[in-house]
Amino acid sequence: MYENLERLQATALAELAQAQDAEALEAWRIRYLSRKGGALNEAVKQLAALPREERPAYGQAVNEVKNAIESAFARRQEELKAAALEAELAAGALDVTLPGRPPSIGHLHLTTQSLRQLYAIFAEMGFQVYDAPDVETDEYNFGLLNIPPYHPARDMWDTFWVTQTGTARPDAAAAGGPAPSATTLVMRTHTSPGQIRVMRERCPEPIRVILPGKCYRYEQITARSEHQFYQMEGLAVGKGIRLTDLIGTLQQFARRMYGPGRRLRVRGSYFPFTEPSIEADMDCILCGGKGCSVCKYTGWLEIAGAGMVHPVVLRNGGYDPDIYSGFAFGMGVERPAMLKYKINDIRYFYGNDLRFLEQFG
Ligand code: FA5
Repeated sequence: MYENLERLQATALAELAQAQDAEALEAWRIRYLSRKGGALNEAVKQLAALPREERPAYGQAVNEVKNAIESAFARRQEELKAAALEAELAAGALDVTLPGRPPSIGHLHLTTQSLRQLYAIFAEMGFQVYDAPDVETDEYNFGLLNIPPYHPARDMWDTFWVTQTGTARPDAAAAGGPAPSATTLVMRTHTSPGQIRVMRERCPEPIRVILPGKCYRYEQITARSEHQFYQMEGLAVGKGIRLTDLIGTLQQFARRMYGPGRRLRVRGSYFPFTEPSIEADMDCILCGGKGCSVCKYTGWLEIAGAGMVHPVVLRNGGYDPDIYSGFAFGMGVERPAMLKYKINDIRYFYGNDLRFLEQFG
């Protein structure tokens, strides 16, 4: 039995030395090391036929053979790998003078590109960028914008609510301590609350700012509507600012964004924070006003909600409406980009699909 083991080791090592490529090496491995029918496994099975007291010694001998041929196998594998590489290099298959593959470094997201385009257009007209928070209080998002609790206009901006509790423990009141304070916060439904923030910060200076940012609404997701999307607000406050200044600004925006010659149409509208309120449309960039499926056969495309800042809002911002006036507008960011690049579904923006994103590199 022990002789058989010695013979097994000698033949295995001799045959291993003959293996010249990966295929021969694999055949050798199956022949000697495979769990199913491998020669070593067959030798292990002999153990069962031995008397109990002889088993440990035989088991140890089998183990030694196993270790010897397994480490020889690993060495041979390395030798063959190195030889294959040598041969490949000698044959000149590796050309170290070839230029490397350029790494893929990506590019700005279409939304970021669109935001930057808007910043550039409004910067030419003297507007600064003002950053306002995404999480707002009910007061800023609604109350100070002339939308008191239970005002039906709140329905237009249904959204996600967050309750922030204070640091006092909930059971502190029962123990005679302070009750926990709770503030209702809201994921802003529009960028308009930033109007109040900038006015309170700058009053009584004149203001000309844009306020870009993400907005959140409890919204049915469709080809045109997301529950998270970007808006860009515009606000100008000063002495003698008139509706015609607003119209001229939006007209200039339409021409810089979509090309010279674009026409602007103004319709009466309603927003609680502007008076009068308007909706600004431009002639359809696809059909030039004749009517097509993009403009739903009206010839016009909506670009912004806007109006003169309501006296109540001016006062909430610290400005006396008898002395100061202002205009404000709010537009989407994805929707103007959809028009410009003829994208028919807003869901592509955040679907994380490279086939879409790479088109805007
Ligand atoms: C407002 O949010 C007003 N705050 C705009 C405003 C500002 C009016 C200042 C007057 C003065 P509205 O809900 O219509 O208005 O939204 C403005 C723009 O945001 C829309 O024209 C559209 O481009 C974009 N928008 C609104 N909801 C969505 C949505 N669910 N998905 C994508 N874009 C949206």
